[in-house]
Amino acid sequence: MSKPIILSGMQPTGSLHIGNYLGALKNWVELQNSGQYELFFFVADLHSLTIDMKPETRRKNIRLLAAEYIASGLDPKKVTLFVQSHIPEHTELTWIFSTVTPVTELFRMIQFKDKSEHNAKNINAGLLTYPALQAADVLLYHGALVPVGQDQVQHLEMTRDCARWFNNRYGHYFPETKPLLTQFPKIMSLLEPTKKMSKSAGESHYIGMADEPKIIAAKLKKAVTATAGGGQAPGAANLLALLKQFGDKKMYTEFTAAEKNGSIRYGDLKAELASAIGNYFAGFRARRAELLANPKKLDAILEDGAERARGVAKKTMADVRKLVGLR
Ligand code: ADP
Ligand code: TRP
Repeated sequence: MSKPIILSGMQPTGSLHIGNYLGALKNWVELQNSGQYELFFFVADLHSLTIDMKPETRRKNIRLLAAEYIASGLDPKKVTLFVQSHIPEHTELTWIFSTVTPVTELFRMIQFKDKSEHNAKNINAGLLTYPALQAADVLLYHGALVPVGQDQVQHLEMTRDCARWFNNRYGHYFPETKPLLTQFPKIMSLLEPTKKMSKSAGESHYIGMADEPKIIAAKLKKAVTATAGGGQAPGAANLLALLKQFGDKKMYTEFTAAEKNGSIRYGDLKAELASAIGNYFAGFRARRAELLANPKKLDAILEDGAERARGVAKKTMADVRKLVGLR
């Protein structure tokens, strides 16, 4: 029996934060280490073209993301690690999916609505057809399971729909895809704890995986813990959840008890958490620096990954061209 296929990716928009890590990346590494799956992970550079970013910045971010994947524990010998644009079949399959996808479905996407609202100057067609490219990413490799954070679930429902629309018209070919969520599919912002932690809100809203301990402590100092109305504040709950992940069990139990009986000192919780996160990512920071100092090695790893991915993608596209009557 062949192993189930797992696939996921992220956009190269700059250094990752602990929300990306707990919502997705940590899970990728655990799935890899379980030995039970065949895995593909990639840098979604084509998706990042929907964002207005300088070409130089994009080029830098692509390598940076690959380095952060590896520094987190992804092993290019165990997984196929590649850059999306190195495999032109992604764009070809996107076109085919865009011809079976009703536009009304695309207009329903929460991310499209959000991005259009917040970035009225750049509502490009790519933002709308984004889920067709995402479906192509997954289905080119017959991905069955896709480990992501909560915000990607709607896009993956559309991946499943794309497979169905295609299969209904051209005959059963693509598999059903399911998202794989972690225990922490939604880490909250430090300053606005009712919203998800995200790069786009600004530096002080998130803790970067590569942030130096001093920076982590300074950001946590400003983190919101109080609520106007009393009761358990979402900010406090978020910090405790982070301590559970990064700190030791005893500390977590003590702070949770103190929070319940009202004796908690948030300054102490923040200091404990800052040191826990700083220590947790010390190895990551060192490996990341090492990888970034050797871009040639990184490029060779990505070329090797592309070579392997290409083999699968070419075969899928040859089948698809036949199925739709282009050959
Ligand atoms: P950002 O919002 O910071 O730009 P992305 O949208 O690029 O992050 O997300 C990359 C991956 O990380 C996706 O799988 C996404 O679901 C996950 N992710 C992003 N933010 C969070 C978060 N706050 N909590 C959990 N997972 C997250
Ligand atoms: N849209 C995803 C994000 O913003 C990135 C992504 C692109 C992706 N293609 C994918 C995730 C395929 C999973 C599978 O995070």
